[in-house]
Amino acid sequence: MTTEPHVLVDLAALGEEFTRDPYPFYAALRARGPVHRIRMPEGTDAWLVVGYEEGRAALADPRLSKDWDNVSDTVGLSRVPTGAHMLNADPPHHTRLRKLVAKEFTPRRVEALAPGVQRITDELLDAMLAEPGGRADLVKSLAFPLPMSVICELVGVPFLDRASFRRWSDDALTSPDLDTRREATAAASEYLTGLLEQKRQRPGEDLLSALIRTTDEDGDRLSAEELLGTVWLLLVAGHETTVNLISSGVLALLRHPEQLAALRADFSLIDNAVEEMLRYDGPVETPTYRFTTEPVDIGGTVVPGGGELVLVAVADADRDPLRFPAPERFDIRRDARGHLAFGHGIHYCLGAPLARLEARIAIRTLLERCPDLALDVHPAALTWRPGLLIRGPQQLPLRWTTDRQKANSVPTGE
Ligand code: HEM
Repeated sequence: MTTEPHVLVDLAALGEEFTRDPYPFYAALRARGPVHRIRMPEGTDAWLVVGYEEGRAALADPRLSKDWDNVSDTVGLSRVPTGAHMLNADPPHHTRLRKLVAKEFTPRRVEALAPGVQRITDELLDAMLAEPGGRADLVKSLAFPLPMSVICELVGVPFLDRASFRRWSDDALTSPDLDTRREATAAASEYLTGLLEQKRQRPGEDLLSALIRTTDEDGDRLSAEELLGTVWLLLVAGHETTVNLISSGVLALLRHPEQLAALRADFSLIDNAVEEMLRYDGPVETPTYRFTTEPVDIGGTVVPGGGELVLVAVADADRDPLRFPAPERFDIRRDARGHLAFGHGIHYCLGAPLARLEARIAIRTLLERCPDLALDVHPAALTWRPGLLIRGPQQLPLRWTTDRQKANSVPTGE
């Protein structure tokens, strides 16, 4: 066991290259050991866990709390209040909140969404493929609006309010400016409070109305603050992640033509391909913050107790050769099960079935409707979402042959 001070690795100093392709950098850290002292791009110091075994164990370690009341002042984190929800809670609160939500967010409710997901995908692709030049940004045309529409329909956010909601959500999650994040969260809370009131008076078939009504066998129910936090969590987690599964997944296919050809030849591989997309370049690079409640020995390094910030690099865990042979290879036939893209332990992603359903339908339908889909940019020219939480391209320019182009290129026989 060692407790000697670690060399501080300043991630901001690594610049754009790290944001574009963090994998080699994490692998180099892993070669030196599972725990490192880092300065995050936004300036906060944290303990970073790399590697599969240690990462998986840390995600499920009860000594690493998700409750912000346990963070040490010395960490210097500024709290942006997002209400009370399961992802900021430890047992027994977590158990109670998750149970009440899981009661309504059932696999049956998710499966029932499939026709709606297909309809929205078809409509978005109709619009995209009508672009005259046969070019579009996939993020803007499909990867973003699909999960956004699905989660808003599921929860019950009216169509006209979605643009504002999207802005608040983006600002709250990725703005480097703390005041902007606070303002966006406050605006979203005000809006959601009003929406909750409307649903109380005129309940619908949506999840929000169900969550307002729901009580468990002991008569327990969600308080107003918990409802607000839960709806915010579902809306944000429901779209900020899935967008990147669709865009990074399509990018991986286009960069590996033999894998793309294999999928086109046999669409029964789609479920396995989506698992590999999650493993190979998943939407979450390091899941949400954890705080030590006592000293924790991780692979021989003791992280002090008292509210130290711990981050788990699941992006690295899923590229650990001790768990996934030849991890740099994108292989839609491999057994990618056991990846940590949806987390692990009690906070394992509640929306995983919905995310899988959306990715499966979106990617398959896109490929079926565009037999010659291609990247319309050199991969090195792509820009990536900043920050350590979410990973994915900001745009994904694509091209395909339109019907008109096909008609114009028909040989005349002269
Ligand atoms: C590909 C898409 C998605 C990915 C990669 C993803 C990833 C994750 C991860 C890694 C966690 C654990 C966070 C941690 O332990 O710090 C998580 C939790 C969660 N996710 Fe997702 N997620 C996705 C889509 C969704 C969707 C569509 C929804 C909802 C509709 C959702 C709802 C949640 C909720 C409610 C939690 C908290 C669970 C708890 O604390 O018990 N996620 N997700």
